[in-house]
Amino acid sequence: MKTEVFPVDPHRPDPETISRAAAIVRAGGLVAFPTETVYGLGANGLDATAARRLFVAKGRPTDNPFILHVASLEEVWSLVDSSCLDSSCPRSLVSKLAQRFWPGPLTLVLPRAAHVPPEVAAGLSTVGIRMPAHPVALAFIRAAGVPLAGPSANASGRPSPTTAAHVLADLDGRIEAVLDAGPTGVGVESTVLDVGRTPPVILRPGGVTREMLAAVLGKVVEAPPHRGKGPADEGPALSPGTKYRHYAPSAPLLLARELPPRGMEMLLQEGGRWEARGFRVGALLAEEEGGDVPPTWVVRTVGRRADLAEVAAGLFAGMRELEDKGVDVILALPYPEEGLGRAIMNRLRKAASGEIPGGGEEGAGSGGVTRGGEKGGGEFGGTSS
Ligand code: TXA
Ligand code: MG
Repeated sequence: MKTEVFPVDPHRPDPETISRAAAIVRAGGLVAFPTETVYGLGANGLDATAARRLFVAKGRPTDNPFILHVASLEEVWSLVDSSCLDSSCPRSLVSKLAQRFWPGPLTLVLPRAAHVPPEVAAGLSTVGIRMPAHPVALAFIRAAGVPLAGPSANASGRPSPTTAAHVLADLDGRIEAVLDAGPTGVGVESTVLDVGRTPPVILRPGGVTREMLAAVLGKVVEAPPHRGKGPADEGPALSPGTKYRHYAPSAPLLLARELPPRGMEMLLQEGGRWEARGFRVGALLAEEEGGDVPPTWVVRTVGRRADLAEVAAGLFAGMRELEDKGVDVILALPYPEEGLGRAIMNRLRKAASGEIPGGGEEGAGSGGVTRGGEKGGGEFGGTSS
């Protein structure tokens, strides 16, 4: 299939282009579209066949559910089981969160109405719903006239796409079209919040931070990180997506254990070991550290450490750019785990195939990695999906 590219103004999308994209989705097709977080892969969220196509196009495990994208709060009430809603999760709470954070990067996990196909929710009794804050996404949902199932528009296991070029790099020939509105803003995906539990549980940290949620909810807790190796050897995860390795570039990514300046020393030592073996070293760094590495390394800065929003916006694009430059390994530094730093560290840990050990320890990073090979197992390992 030929994937069509529809260029569109990010602020004032041309209605004719939007209605072409909407017609494709209504006919059961797949159209990638920009949101404020990352590009999504849109399909009719009430059509089980279209949902099955999403799994195939992305190569996604079928136990990982999709988020439904809506353009108004009213649509939410038609997608949730209202009897459960009244008993286990008050409407007032949903309205309050929607009023404060929508449109925006917050997904609410709610009891699923019977007419939402089980395929969309991967068989769960709940459904994730969000209203994205991108004029193109909102216009597209309204024109389609149905909620859009919208996983990130990458091949499963790859870094999420923040440009249409990233979408095409993974899915060209596998989807009908992409609405190209330039780069997205937030850069990491939405926060997934289970509001059916008391207190509500953050299943995936994202663009709306824990601190922002706590200001509205009082108490909010975070689901413990999933430490298993893959789907076969473990019980159900609260959020199925959390159990897979994710976001991984094709070169192994190694994450230093400590913040700079100590982490920078570790990173320089580790890079030296890789270079000594003839490997091409890439570094994914904040601007503050970008000038401190040897000139032989390929450096991609992702924004200022002092402004984590910049780092989030550049993170996935940085991973893809370094792999495109043909580096053999990508070395990265951690960020403080507060505010957006939680989402950034969640994505970096899932992308990493190992960590850069502290002083004196023999390279857990470089040891055991062969050219083009990927180190598996360990704390960071897991089934690539
Ligand atoms: O920002 C975003 O959320 C982007 C844009 C395109 O909207 N979408 C996105 O979708 O990241 P996806 O499919 O790549 O990730 C959805 C995450 C997965 O971890 C999935 O397991 C979780 O949300 N999820 C979806 N529905 C759920 C449910 N009913 N219960 C628990 N987790 C759910
Ligand atoms: Mg995704």
